[in-house]
Order: sequence, then C-alpha cells, then structure tokens
Amino acid sequence: MRILYYTGKGGTGKSTISCITSIKAADLGYKTILVSSDPAHSLRDVLRVKVGREVTKVIDNLYAINIDPVKEAAENYSIIIDYIASVLKARGIDESLAYEIASLPGMTGVVTMLKLNAIAKEGYDVIVIDTVPSGEALRYLYVPTIIGRISRKIMKIAMPFVELGKVVEPLAGIPAPSKEVVKKEVELLEMFEGVKDLLLNRDVTSLRLVTNPDSFSIANARRAYMQASIYGLNTDLIVVNKVLPEEVRGSYFNEWLSEQQRYIEEAVNSFRPIPVKFLRLFKRELKGIDDLRKAADELFGDGNPTEVYHKGEAIKVEYRDKYLEVTYPAPFISKKEIEVERVGDELILRIYTDAGPVDLVIPLPAIAFKLSLKKAKLINGYLHLYFGE
Ligand SMILES: Nc1ncnc2c1ncn2[C@@H]1O[C@H](COP(=O)(O)OP(=O)(O)O)[C@@H](O)[C@H]1O
Ligand SMILES: [Mg+2]
Repeated sequence: MRILYYTGKGGTGKSTISCITSIKAADLGYKTILVSSDPAHSLRDVLRVKVGREVTKVIDNLYAINIDPVKEAAENYSIIIDYIASVLKARGIDESLAYEIASLPGMTGVVTMLKLNAIAKEGYDVIVIDTVPSGEALRYLYVPTIIGRISRKIMKIAMPFVELGKVVEPLAGIPAPSKEVVKKEVELLEMFEGVKDLLLNRDVTSLRLVTNPDSFSIANARRAYMQASIYGLNTDLIVVNKVLPEEVRGSYFNEWLSEQQRYIEEAVNSFRPIPVKFLRLFKRELKGIDDLRKAADELFGDGNPTEVYHKGEAIKVEYRDKYLEVTYPAPFISKKEIEVERVGDELILRIYTDAGPVDLVIPLPAIAFKLSLKKAKLINGYLHLYFGE
C-alpha cells in the first residue's frame, strides 16, 4: 500500500495534482482512493463529480471521499471532546471556551488522521491525500504523537479509579473520565499508534510538495520540507506546477517567463537530491477527467506515480560513552539563530530562517528522557543534539 500526501501553499494546485495522480494510478490498475479534508469541496470542482462524505466511485479503480472533520468529530469523538472540555472547565476555563479549545482546530487534523487509519484497512493499493495548506497539514501529521502522549497521561491519572469502578473527582481537581471515555481513549490511542506507524514508514508514505515558480510558494515548500524531515516523514517528490510555456516568450508574459526560470533553478537546487517534476500552466483551468488525464500524461508520462521517487535520511540516534547523540537532517536551516528549549519529553526549537521564525517541536526518543540536553549544533544541514547524564 502507498499513501501519497500532497501539500503546498494554497492555490498552487494541490487538489489538481492529487486528482491527476489518482487518475494515473487508477488507470495503471491500482485500486485508488482520493481523500480530501478540504472544506471547500475542491474535489467536486476539479473532478466534476459529486464527492461527499461517503466513498464515491469516480472511474474504474478510482474512489473519492470528502471528509467533514467537524461532523466526523461530532459523530465519533464527542465523548472525548466532552471529557477534555470537562478537564479544562475544572481548571477554571469558561465552559464554552473549553469546548472551543477541545474541538478546534486540532480536532480537524485528529479526525482526518483517524479516518486515514480506517481507510488504510479497506484494502486500497493507493491512498492519495489532498490536504489543507502545508503548515497546518504537517502539524496534523504530528498530532498522533502529541495526542498519544496526552492520552497516556490522562490514562495514568484515570486508570486506578476506573478499575476500582469509582467515579471520583479528586486529584488536583481533574475530573476522572468515565469508563466509556477510557474505553474510547484506549481505542484512539491504538488508532494513533497505527496511523503513526504508517506515516513514518518510508516505503508506505511519501510527502509530496506542490509549488509554483514563485518565491512565496517555494519558501513555503522549503519550510514544509524542513518540518517534515524533522517529524521523520519522507518527502519524495517536488511538483512545480503552473510553469509558463516557452511559447509566451516575446509576449506580455515575457518577464514572468524569465522570472520563473530563475525560480525553477532555485527550486531544483534547494530540494536536491529530491526529484522535481514540472507541469505547465494550461490555457485554462483543469476541470474534469479528460483534462486531468491529459495533464497526467504530461506530468508522469510512462512513469508510475506510486513509485517511491526518493528516500531521504531519517533521524539517527546513537548512544556512545554515556552520551546520546540525536542527528536530525535539517535542510534549509541556514543557521541564522536557533533557540532550544526543552519541555518535558519534547524539544522546542525556534529557528530564525530566511522565511521568518519557525517553531519546531521535536519528540525525543524515550532513551533521552532521563538525560539532559548538553549541546545543540548545526553542521552542514544536520542538527546534532547531545544528551548526557
Ligand atoms: N497546471 C495548471 N494549469 C492551469 N490551471 C491550473 C493548473 N494547476 C492548477 N490550476 C488551477 O488553479 C486553481 C487552483 O488549483 P487547486 O488545485 O485548487 O489548488 P489548491 O488545491 O492548491 O488550492 C484551480 O482553478 C485549478 O484549475
Ligand atoms: Mg485544494
């Protein structure tokens, strides 16, 4: 099974490229599902087929679904939201505000992840995910880890009481969750572990970045690549979309053409060794299966879009002489300045990049919990963290 996760700045062509990829995969004979969590119903616009909350057949081998995170959460996970809200309320947070915090925006990502976990069990060969713009989407990918950790903490507090069958509200004023909540929590925890294993498996999941030949979307893609690397996700392809064709030379778009060529060079250089594919700006919007199929032939040719185009390095952990060294590939951190702060079992890095400050939350391996951070160094695109006793 392959999970192809497309992201990029808004308007660059995520939905279009996701559709193109899905059609190509389906035409090659893979049983494919296209998943969108975009509330703007973009699949319907691009495919010209009505896609709703139920799995819809689009063409042979191709299915699509539009997840509605809010409805999904309300139907399946309201019990958890109620509980989180009650915890927040017990801490003096106003009830309606507590619900706001417990439901959104994190819940959107959580629910998408859970849905992905369910879809992954349905026997598709390829799952193509058309996401919301990058920053958000990547945080969602990280959500399973965060929630897993929160859940474990809640469980630790709750378990003794639940096993005794008592409903008590002691312990620093935190309400004990009901048996039902705990059951749901355990279920969730297992699902999160499952989805995390899928996402971090480099043979299964590939992140693909869609960009246009302009400075903003390239900077956005760079940042997404950086975050993804740190979260341990494999980025295997960059798609530069909406490239002006040579035939506009000498026209009104002449300067755009020269500028684009400069940005294309920049994109190729900055993502090396990740392969870059190009798709021209068509004469009009790409709508419907026929248009998309033509574009698929231009983008992938005789190739296979389900291939793992590139396998980058993962996080490396080495233990030697009572020193633990964790090496994160951190492309594009051009060392302006880095602030490191350790909060419990996570490391918060504030990196001042050309594109402005980026906060990164790095999960530490369990082995590092007992150790303290001694040194953090950036050497040739690798962030080396040293932990000692
Ligand atoms: N290569 C292309 N040529 C022409 N129009 C394109 C191309 N790629 C995308 N578009 C158009 O650009 C707009 C935004 O694309 P879309 O896929 O919805 O972006 P996103 O999902 O990233 O917001 C749509 O109107 C789409 O038809
Ligand atoms: Mg879209």
